[in-house]
Amino acid sequence: MRRYDIPVSRYYEIKYWIIGKVIGCSCYFIGRFMPYFFAGKLESGNVCEYFVMMKYFHDLGINDHDTVLYEMGIKEKEHEVHFLEAVKDAAWLPLFEKIFSWGPESSLNDVDLQARLPVDGSDQYCKNFKGSSSPSSPGK
Ligand SMILES: [Fe+2]
Repeated sequence: MRRYDIPVSRYYEIKYWIIGKVIGCSCYFIGRFMPYFFAGKLESGNVCEYFVMMKYFHDLGINDHDTVLYEMGIKEKEHEVHFLEAVKDAAWLPLFEKIFSWGPESSLNDVDLQARLPVDGSDQYCKNFKGSSSPSSPGK
C-alpha cells in the first residue's frame, strides 16, 4: 500500500479489530460452533478479495503482485476449509447454512483446492463476486 501511496484505513483497522475480539470472546460464552461458523464464512468471502484485487491491478497494467495475491487467496480458501471441517458434524450447520448462505453446499467463492488453477489462469476465479466488475471493464 505504501508503494502506491494508499493510506491504511483507520476505520477498517478498528472495525476488524472489534469483530475479531467479539468473535474471540464469544468462544468463552457460546461454545465454538458460532465463532467457527462465522470465521469460516468470513474466510470464504475473503478468498475473492485477492483475486478481484489482482484483476484491478491488471486493469492498471500491474502484474507484479500476481503470485502473492494468488497465494493469499488460496490461503484464505484453506482457512475456509479448516473452519468448515471443524463444524461439519455440528447439528446446527444445516440450519445456519440456510440462514447465512455458507456451509458445505454454499461457498462465497468458486475456488476448488482439489482442482486449483495456475496463477496465470486464476482470472477465471470469482467472476460473479461482488466488486468483480471494475469501471474499466464493464459487463465483466
Ligand atoms: Fe484467513
